[in-house]
Amino acid sequence: MSLHYDLLIRNALIVDGARRPRYAGDIGVRAGRIADIGLLAEGRAELEIDARGKIAAPGFIDAHTHDDRLLSSDPAMAPKVSQGVTSVIIGNCGISLAPLVDAAPPPPLDLIDDGKAYRFPDFASFLEELESRPAAANAACLVGHTTLRVATMSRLDRAATPAETARMQALAREALAAGAVGLSTGTYYPPAAHATTEEIIAVARPLKDYGGRYVTHMRDEGDRVVESMEETFRIGRELGVPVVISHHKVVGPRNHGRSAQTLALLAQAGARQSVCLDCYPYTASSTILRAERTALSSRILITWSKPHPQFAGMELAQAAAKLGLSQEQAVAALSPAGAIYFSMDEGDVQRILRFDETMIGSDGLPHDAKPHPRLWGTFARVLGHYCRDLGLFPLETAIHKMTGLTARNFGLKGRGLLQPGYWADITIFDAGEIGDAASFDAPTQAARGIDWVIVNGVPVWRKGESTGARPGRVLRAGAVAGRAASG
Ligand code: ZN
Ligand code: CU
Repeated sequence: MSLHYDLLIRNALIVDGARRPRYAGDIGVRAGRIADIGLLAEGRAELEIDARGKIAAPGFIDAHTHDDRLLSSDPAMAPKVSQGVTSVIIGNCGISLAPLVDAAPPPPLDLIDDGKAYRFPDFASFLEELESRPAAANAACLVGHTTLRVATMSRLDRAATPAETARMQALAREALAAGAVGLSTGTYYPPAAHATTEEIIAVARPLKDYGGRYVTHMRDEGDRVVESMEETFRIGRELGVPVVISHHKVVGPRNHGRSAQTLALLAQAGARQSVCLDCYPYTASSTILRAERTALSSRILITWSKPHPQFAGMELAQAAAKLGLSQEQAVAALSPAGAIYFSMDEGDVQRILRFDETMIGSDGLPHDAKPHPRLWGTFARVLGHYCRDLGLFPLETAIHKMTGLTARNFGLKGRGLLQPGYWADITIFDAGEIGDAASFDAPTQAARGIDWVIVNGVPVWRKGESTGARPGRVLRAGAVAGRAASG
């Protein structure tokens, strides 16, 4: 055993991501990977970190993000690495930047657009750009069904024709061959709402050949949530691929408490097929501004508005009063716009977070003028508020839900665990101090208690500041430990 390392973390309490009880030890890192874990008192390194009293965990994997453009527009990835995140899953909710060339795509694609973002004619050129100008964090990419619809269909208010479906399937196959780890849908949103179950099955058909997964923002997370889950399970079964239900929730007061039913259904489905889910730790959701959501929400906050940017951060009711309009008229006047909807029940959020198969995903919207605090707060809030303060689960379980479980569900080989041979994505934090600082009033505050964040062996965040390093890689499907994950 050679005891010279690039980086040596001493005296840490190691939580390994596989839910094993924490233990004291040192971590030696060489060439971007964990070389040794144990008692390495003889070890020497270029950089030594004394982690006495601190937790060393695998870097967190954000199971659900819309960081597609953030990776290049703000490669320091501060909203993510500041809370310990070292890898992000992008391309969710049917929305991916490729393959599409469009200067003015319809909502919800505009959630991540700046008028120049959709400029990749194929998925491979998008991944090449991510690799040629790396960010601080790693990214695994999904191809979005809504993006495919916008790229191929002459109009979106109907199901795809057989020719359009075949074209979308070919583009999905190309994306998977280039390295996408799955396909996402967002049938909740108008540009995909008219897609039939059969259309989705046909477009997603190549998933099985590439070991990809089907990831979905379902048609309905309110009154028809059970029907939506049945559709999702059916798609997974007919394709023979694993299913990920995105940001699972039940919205609207009359559905509060129904997570008992939806989780029972998930457990049942899990007995016959591969199903999992992600969740963010808040009772408010956030997406584009839509009139139909007003009835389901007790309070609505504007997060951005193209025609009226001055209303970002204001309640919809207040904005409507200022404009002298009804709430419904105000929605039309403010759009295109985004909003936060207070529409969930705390009991449901806790029950879903506790569920064994639930991963942590922020669903943060990094380009909103006044974003939902989940963008900067999700991981620290789970570890501080829900794990330590409320005792919802042990720390080992909380970490598993944001590391080992997520790597397994998305097929990210060599990630998500602290074990020799694994990539050195490591977050060092103070378990007594960790907590979310981001709030609905001040949503862009970095988390408390994060000391070091290390990506592929390189520190990217240290005590409240970005180090400027950009060691992130594209995590391709099926990339195996022992081989570089990026080509
Ligand atoms: Zn979504
Ligand atoms: Cu989303």
